[in-house]
Amino acid sequence: MSVDLEKLLRPVERPMAPFPPKYMVLASGENMVVRQVGRKDIPSILPYIRPLIHVERDYYDLVAARIYAELLAYYRYRVQDEYVLVVQVEGELVAVVNGRMVNADVGMSYHTIALRRGLRVGAHAFAAKMEYHFDILNQKEVLIVAESPIGFRRWMIEYELEKRPGIQHELGGVPSYALTKELFDRARGTLIVGRRPVPEDVLAKAEEAILPPSDPPRPPAYLMAAARSEYDPTGTALMLQQWKQEGKV
Ligand SMILES: CC(C)(COP(=O)(O)OP(=O)(O)OC[C@H]1O[C@@H](n2cnc3c(N)ncnc32)[C@H](O)[C@@H]1OP(=O)(O)O)[C@@H](O)C(=O)NCCC(=O)NCCS
Repeated sequence: MSVDLEKLLRPVERPMAPFPPKYMVLASGENMVVRQVGRKDIPSILPYIRPLIHVERDYYDLVAARIYAELLAYYRYRVQDEYVLVVQVEGELVAVVNGRMVNADVGMSYHTIALRRGLRVGAHAFAAKMEYHFDILNQKEVLIVAESPIGFRRWMIEYELEKRPGIQHELGGVPSYALTKELFDRARGTLIVGRRPVPEDVLAKAEEAILPPSDPPRPPAYLMAAARSEYDPTGTALMLQQWKQEGKV
């Protein structure tokens, strides 16, 4: 008797309403589009996440490694009910967010990664995925954890998330926090912004191609930077010590 093993390994997907694309104008004056992508788009995104696995600053390494695996799991049908949203400016990839549906009422936020810094693109990307859970999937709450201090500030503090001490998040770490429908509604118009429909030409540009990030986070030129920052944010003490050993000073 032959068994189709793939049928046993591949989760059976539940139908999920699609995220309607939206756009907003950034502080830089540029139009930024948030839209859902499908499996066929994943190979165009992975090459821009991969280099971030080597950026220790702000936990890009850990988040990039995890989101890389999550995107692959989605691409290769090894995760239940995942979705992926990309954020683009003139086609350029500036952020990626993902998550999944746990059941009809509860969502699981996976990751948010900003590929362009300083414009709150990550904050807007996260807001869009929360909108997906509440307004499109009609869920009651979303489980969230943070890996980085910036993430903690952006999600736990800005939204005043509730603790869920008894619930372990799928990503590990501390027990979950939750964004409830009530907290989400409170954030409308402040943290959650954007307009629909996206102007046709702006959406067409985004859909044409996922272009590489123009200024992504990069590892520091000085390889000891991550180690030194814990004790000496300027790095001068360690560098002086090293130069002395090398006989340069
Ligand atoms: C968390 C994250 C998505 C937030 O993205 P964001 O909202 O676009 O915010 P940025 O990362 O650009 O900026 C965060 C802060 O760092 C500062 N910052 C850090 N590096 C910066 C840079 N190179 N240029 C400009 N600002 C920078 C910003 O001024 C900002 O300060 P603020 O909070 O007072 O506004 C993003 O920092 C990120 O992808 N981090 C790595 C992965 C991660 O931690 N994901 C979340 C897991 S919980």
